Amino acid sequence: MIQVVGIEKGFGTQVLFQDVTFTLGKGERVGLVGRNGTGKSTLFKILLGEESQDRGEIIFPKNYHVGTLKQHLIFTQDTILEECMTALRGENAEFEQYKVEKMLLGLGFKISDFCRSPKDFSGGYQIRLNLAKVLVSEPDCLLLDEPTNYLDIVSMRWLTKFLREFRGEMILITHDRGFMDDVTTHTMGIWRQNLFKIPGNSGKYLIVSHFMWNEPS
Ligand SMILES: Nc1ncnc2c1ncn2[C@@H]1O[C@H](COP(=O)(O)OP(=O)(O)O)[C@@H](O)[C@H]1O
Ligand SMILES: [Mg+2]
Repeated sequence: MIQVVGIEKGFGTQVLFQDVTFTLGKGERVGLVGRNGTGKSTLFKILLGEESQDRGEIIFPKNYHVGTLKQHLIFTQDTILEECMTALRGENAEFEQYKVEKMLLGLGFKISDFCRSPKDFSGGYQIRLNLAKVLVSEPDCLLLDEPTNYLDIVSMRWLTKFLREFRGEMILITHDRGFMDDVTTHTMGIWRQNLFKIPGNSGKYLIVSHFMWNEPS
């Protein structure tokens, strides 16, 4: 659970958020919608501590870990398997190789890929490797910005099932509304420098936002 209280954020004269307060409740998986430039990625950066808010506070439970899909493709290990193992956080990490293997297979790697170098793979597969890494790290909260960009249909299905069974919190940005609605419990939109969260899918959000606060759909 994350509590965001009275957040304000702007860049220069541009105001993105004004007095934003919301709670990301236990087990909620939220689809984040809003036009380009409204501040979706900035909200992620604030929650990750990569960008600081101008005002307000964010309250995390003790030892709460927020994980995100990294966009940079920098790998330190010689093999796909070892690279993914570096993301394990548990105390018995060395016994959790099966978990890593399951994740890699789900995301479209083959067993014969495990001992190959991350550098031998295309950018798309390197993004998949980053996705596998954040998933095996078992964060309390997942922040995913366009996680399906490089996935084929089989891996999409696998990720859909994985996220539906994910026990933690999640905020998801994606242009794929079908995928969003398949994996989320709530939808949150940015509108007039504020955030509105409703239970239900993005279709319901469009209707509610249009009638409740005249957001154009
Ligand atoms: N570091 C920054 N410095 C100045 N302006 C920024 C910075 N980061 C984002 N912005 C501006 O803030 C607005 C929101 O950006 P962003 O959070 O990326 O929106 P979204 O992800 O919803 O498209 C954009 O107009 C963008 O140009
Ligand atoms: Mg963005």
